[in-house]
Amino acid sequence: MQQGRFVSFEGIEGCGKTTQIALLSEYLRKHSIPHTITREPGGTAVGEGIRKILLNSETIHLTAASELLLFYASRSQNIEEKIKPALERNEMVICDRYYHASMAYQGYGRGIPLDFIRKLTDLVCDPYRPDLTLLLDIEPEIGLARARARNHGRIENEGRFEAEELEFYNRVRDGYLELASEDERIQLIYADRPIETVHRHVLTLLGFD
Ligand code: TYD
Repeated sequence: MQQGRFVSFEGIEGCGKTTQIALLSEYLRKHSIPHTITREPGGTAVGEGIRKILLNSETIHLTAASELLLFYASRSQNIEEKIKPALERNEMVICDRYYHASMAYQGYGRGIPLDFIRKLTDLVCDPYRPDLTLLLDIEPEIGLARARARNHGRIENEGRFEAEELEFYNRVRDGYLELASEDERIQLIYADRPIETVHRHVLTLLGFD
């Protein structure tokens, strides 16, 4: 396993990304593999501020274009402050969502043309593209039920996306699957299975088995 490798995790709400990233981090720690974990939106001071605007359900009248640009503003900070320095230190970088999320949510979900999002990605992200993207796939009914149960009573109010209709999440999931079918660097993991089984699949795809 080469170090300095860049891996992103993707999937709809409730797919278990955060749990899987924590398990992977534990594995890497045990094996003394230096790594940096970051999340989007967020991961930096500016990014966490943007996260509040994007996810708070009290944010109203946010246009699809504003939403897209805010995600990319957060991403740009993340690259400059976290991803680039970590790769330069030769650490493995694990990103909890990256630009594929914008293609799935703002592209397939909100209807912004993918070509435009691809151009924005070229501008903001190049040359920092994941070597591998792990897409945790789950049926939206199951994922949303999990996410809503988990977030019930959460102190931070981050429910703006979770309030979307099932139809939105069906588009997002189908979008992710289409992206995966067109790009061999996106590997699919079926996520409605025991946590340990999914973890082993993650390790296998990363070449740790
Ligand atoms: P988060 O609380 O991190 O959700 P999860 O734990 O499910 O990853 O919230 C991130 C939300 O932002 C999620 O609904 C997906 C959405 N999102 C986009 O719409 N576009 C993007 O580019 C990114 C990074 C996230």
